[in-house]
Amino acid sequence: MDSILVTGNGPLNGDIPIAGAKNACLTLMPATLLSDEPLTLTNAPRLSDIKTMTALLQSLGAEVSSLQGGQVLAMSSHDLNNLHADYDIVRKMRASILVLGPMLARAGQAVVSLPGGCAIGARPVDLHLKALEAMGADLELRDGYVHAKAPAGGLRGAVIDFPFASVGATENALMAATLAKGTTVIRNAAREPEIVDLAECLRAMGAQIEGEGSSEITIQGVDRLGGATHRVVTDRIELGTYMLAPAICGGEVTCLGGKLSLVEAFVEKLDAAGLSVEETEKGLKVARRGDRVKAVDVVTEPFPGFPTDLQAQMMALLCTAEGVSNLEEKIFENRFMHAPELTRMGAKIEVHGGTARVTGVDRLKGAPVMATDLRASVSLILAGLAAEGETVVSRVYHLDRGYEHVVRKLSAVGAKIERIKGE
Ligand code: EPZ
Repeated sequence: MDSILVTGNGPLNGDIPIAGAKNACLTLMPATLLSDEPLTLTNAPRLSDIKTMTALLQSLGAEVSSLQGGQVLAMSSHDLNNLHADYDIVRKMRASILVLGPMLARAGQAVVSLPGGCAIGARPVDLHLKALEAMGADLELRDGYVHAKAPAGGLRGAVIDFPFASVGATENALMAATLAKGTTVIRNAAREPEIVDLAECLRAMGAQIEGEGSSEITIQGVDRLGGATHRVVTDRIELGTYMLAPAICGGEVTCLGGKLSLVEAFVEKLDAAGLSVEETEKGLKVARRGDRVKAVDVVTEPFPGFPTDLQAQMMALLCTAEGVSNLEEKIFENRFMHAPELTRMGAKIEVHGGTARVTGVDRLKGAPVMATDLRASVSLILAGLAAEGETVVSRVYHLDRGYEHVVRKLSAVGAKIERIKGE
């Protein structure tokens, strides 16, 4: 298994290009199952998760071609000849559940493996299933699979009240509702930019949708959807991650393509910590000149609150802040696996249930550490950039799921970082 070697090397300066969003692409790709006409995505990120979704769609009979070095995905599901999403693919990536709604809406039936466990939490899919049942689907859980059947005449519009603003359940319900008979209203819908991006793509395919980005989305079902070409929105989590690089090491970095509107709650915290963030024509410029970062308290929440996917990276910053910071993780029940690894680098972190108390130290020290999930892996790399000496992060296959060209992007702004090929 590959690992990444990082050596603390002082301030960073320059530009880092931000790719298209993994979490948008993973819901846009299944949208191709809703139509027999081609759907093309541009600005697609080059990640192992995108390859997994490609393999899943191809296993269902869709054609998916990766063009222009992987940044363009040309897809067509004219011949959906298999309605069975196999455990062998689904177990690799939970987002696979997002093929359920589109298949059920288009083909009237589907058999999809349940995703199984995850390092950061139990992550059930009950809200996805309840939403489809509200649209008239008959669902049976058998042998680890969801066996789903739409009523005669197809899914029906419904009022769906989510007890919690789940991103995935909103995406599945939204896609299914585009072909349902009548009107669907999703209440307490998730408001993430990835959902707005999905709605824009579906509308380009001919769907009738209003209210995306708010807590109430209304969808008027149509008989069929056409094709479209859609540009994937910028990855706000990759953006936030690289904004933290100069914050942790000092210097000035511009994240190309970054927009303030994607990361407002996050920028509020960087501001409170004493960092300068500026929106320019090129993107978001972050600078830290000299002064030590100040401690801040963070609570993760659904968008537009502070994103849980930036919690680990923010913790890496706060390890060397002046004072004590409290980070409360409210989305996932087990998302502090990076804390003991950061502690190996000399951080002072106490975890009690869903809250981590971080007492800032002068400087971290390099050490061998282990990645446990995607965002934890990059938080260890960020910590290593500012640590004294060498840090070796192992199990970086986690990283490849959500970050393209990390070594190239960070080296370009002066980081001392290299990938060590495993046996
Ligand atoms: C999406 O996951 C993202 N993944 C996650 O990013 C992100 O952390 C999460 O949203 C929250 O922002 C993708 O988009 C592919 P949820 P998702 O449904 O859809 C509970 C990353 O690092 N819940 O909003 O799975 C669930 O257990 C990943 O890129 C139910 O109880 O998130 C969790 O506690 C990690 N029942 C909470 O809701 C359900 O049916 C939020 O989950 C669905 C969710």
